Amino acid sequence: MKYAQITGWGKCIPPASITNDEISQIVETNDEWISTRTGIRARRVSHVSTAELATVAAQNALDCAGLEGKDVDLVLLATCTPSTMVANTASLVQKNIGAVGAAACDTNAACSGFLYAMQLATAQIRTGMIKRAVVIAAERMTWYVNWAKRDSAVLFGDGAGAVVLEASDEPSGLLASKIGCDTEDRNILHIANCGTDLNKYEPIGPSDLMFEGREIFKRAVKGMSQACDDVLSQAQLSLEDIDVLVPHQANLRIIQAIQQKLNIEDEKVMVNIDKYGNTSAATIAIALCEAVENGLIKPESNIMSAAFGAGLTWAASYIKWGTRVTPINPPSASLPPCDKTGLELIAHSVAACKEA
Ligand SMILES: CC(C)(COP(=O)(O)OP(=O)(O)OC[C@H]1O[C@@H](n2cnc3c(N)ncnc32)[C@H](O)[C@@H]1OP(=O)(O)O)[C@@H](O)C(=O)NCCC(=O)NCCS
Repeated sequence: MKYAQITGWGKCIPPASITNDEISQIVETNDEWISTRTGIRARRVSHVSTAELATVAAQNALDCAGLEGKDVDLVLLATCTPSTMVANTASLVQKNIGAVGAAACDTNAACSGFLYAMQLATAQIRTGMIKRAVVIAAERMTWYVNWAKRDSAVLFGDGAGAVVLEASDEPSGLLASKIGCDTEDRNILHIANCGTDLNKYEPIGPSDLMFEGREIFKRAVKGMSQACDDVLSQAQLSLEDIDVLVPHQANLRIIQAIQQKLNIEDEKVMVNIDKYGNTSAATIAIALCEAVENGLIKPESNIMSAAFGAGLTWAASYIKWGTRVTPINPPSASLPPCDKTGLELIAHSVAACKEA
């Protein structure tokens, strides 16, 4: 049976950002509260669509792998903020990267979406159904934010990451994975005012991220560490074998609690929540890419990854990196320039949320 090696990695970080001090001009909060409670110092706001973010990340991952879109059999996009639902957003990405005829599909498992998509694409390669896939996670979480509510307004950001998976005889890629969903209390984390349950002929109002932060915090720590233990035993590995932890970036304190439970040293943990906030499915895809760029991931590194999100979905993965940690070709794709600041980009939404 073939393995599904990661041969390309890419990201798309929109240029406009909003710092904690800037967000304090919108809701009653301050840099001290946000940075000590969450570890977040800034978040990005996209001036383009989710499809464009996904396209840039996917193209850069293809460049890194030395491939072209036409070489790919599957474009799998993890997102809970699709640009369009029908046609799906992946079909536009497929067109943009020239993956003519490839299967194109969106998947939604909220913040766990990238690890879900990795398992789905890996299984198809391992069973010989396809040879190459580009797995993308792209989100515009700021689209959902209710800028009148400080609890959620400070947490989220936009961005995208992608990997190319290729059939290989080398034992590498996603070697163990566990995905699941704890649906009992699915209402403790959801987006209100969104979806076809609504009566579209009534005024709907702005979408709204609803969550019970403390409850999610506890479940995230417990769920993700349990899933990591399960994956380690599936892979017949112990914690000492793990070189790098790439966790979902929802709160620095959640990451530290998992790290403590698993007893993993600071220098093995990939953290970038300070720069980007919670970009939902995209956090792990971006963090994986940056962990290679900054040398945390080395040839043949053993990588553990875990996520938790609305549903309540959860996932943990063991990834064995291949031998190459440098791109075959440099990234060729970038976003069009943005002539607005982060605050200017959200000004209209802020006014609408405050009026509602
Ligand atoms: C959301 C989260 C950061 C809140 O941190 P917390 O330490 O649990 O804080 P609490 O919700 O208990 O609120 C503590 C106080 O801070 C206040 N507060 C909440 N948001 C604030 C903000 N942005 N600025 C200042 N104060 C804030 C609350 O009103 C509360 O005040 P009170 O004690 O006077 O009632 C944290 O629970 C978390 O990260 N949860 C998991 C992640 C999550 O839910 N992500 C969302 C979906 S993935």
